[in-house]
Amino acid sequence: MRDNARSMTRYWPRFTREGVENSVAPIDYLEWYIPRLQEERKHNLSFSGMQFDWDFTELLGESVDDIGKTFFGDIEDPRETIAKREDVEIENVLITHGATQGINIALLTAIAKIRDNIDNITVAVESPTYAPIPQTALILADDVIRINKSPPTNGLGHWRIDYTEWQAAIEKSQIIMITPISNPCGWNLHPEDKDWIIEQARINDVIVIADEAYNDAYRYTDDYRSIHSFGDNCISINSLTKVYSMGPIRFGWLIAERETIAIARSIFMTFSGVMSSPTMRIAAKVMKKLDTVDDAIEHYRKENLPILRNVLQKHGIVWNEPPAGVFGCFELPNNINSEYFVDYFCKANDLLAVPGSMFSEKMISWVRVAWSIEPKKFELAVRALDKSLNSALN
Ligand SMILES: Cc1ncc(COP(=O)(O)O)c(C=O)c1O
Repeated sequence: MRDNARSMTRYWPRFTREGVENSVAPIDYLEWYIPRLQEERKHNLSFSGMQFDWDFTELLGESVDDIGKTFFGDIEDPRETIAKREDVEIENVLITHGATQGINIALLTAIAKIRDNIDNITVAVESPTYAPIPQTALILADDVIRINKSPPTNGLGHWRIDYTEWQAAIEKSQIIMITPISNPCGWNLHPEDKDWIIEQARINDVIVIADEAYNDAYRYTDDYRSIHSFGDNCISINSLTKVYSMGPIRFGWLIAERETIAIARSIFMTFSGVMSSPTMRIAAKVMKKLDTVDDAIEHYRKENLPILRNVLQKHGIVWNEPPAGVFGCFELPNNINSEYFVDYFCKANDLLAVPGSMFSEKMISWVRVAWSIEPKKFELAVRALDKSLNSALN
């Protein structure tokens, strides 16, 4: 039954065009996730992004009447706030409609910089990952090479990379795409691995594109450093979606050296024209108040994590807790299939979590859980998780 239920479908990111030649692959995980979100289960540990209730009436005040008017000259340029936070100039920043569009534009930019000299453009992409990263490369480049990040051998600490495997891939590629703060494990790249990747990219003249959608939750930790700061061949992508709970307004940005950003800007204008006025107006206000959410994240970590730790420990589950951010993942005992776990045991307790198979076929017994919700709700959700684990493991 468990195997049959699974054999029909696959939800993890694709690294080849096999089966979808002359077409484009779907973003499979959404086919799993959207119907389950629509069920509106009472308890929800599935949000990898912080759930923070911004007060839009307070944020916008009377300027809400202007959202349909062009924003030029009317708002403080959000690039200024971003440039200050990242210690760059505004010419190093391009605003995009979210990090996902940032992935598209960063890759198009990297391709534009090399396509006249390269016949076959190859992109190395990390796994497990957010499906639009390799699948944008499948659409825009010629070849994609998958490179793996693996859980720590003793269960605790950073997920690591294999230098032999990655070096072989980097040598064959012109572009590498990484997610320093990984979804679903929530851990940052090991500082040694980060330095090694940057050095290999430099030696092999490879452009590094980093999806840093979760980075801001690590901003105040040791060893924090955004990839754009490592050199002219590096492009960083970020947005207000995950850490700052502003996904619906679709506001993100790229950071890179200025000639690269100038190319990215031409690409943005070609595909999108200008940013939407409501997005820019709201973002300009939000950018001034980001520390409110930074504080809320600290508060959620302090209140929520002890409850989660206790329940996982009670069930004998190894819990590799990331030192920052609002989500992490664990492996179910006895190779229990996590899609089955979420669809049967969690559903019976009105709980939603995310199976690891949304990120890689190597993670079919993993579950991603987030502590991104308000502590009272979180406590009830973890109680539902406890019951689900009880019935699944006994
Ligand atoms: C690694 C990563 N990047 C980007 C996004 C989406 O960001 P945005 O809403 O800004 O497009 C996600 C969402 O799950 C993600 O996991």
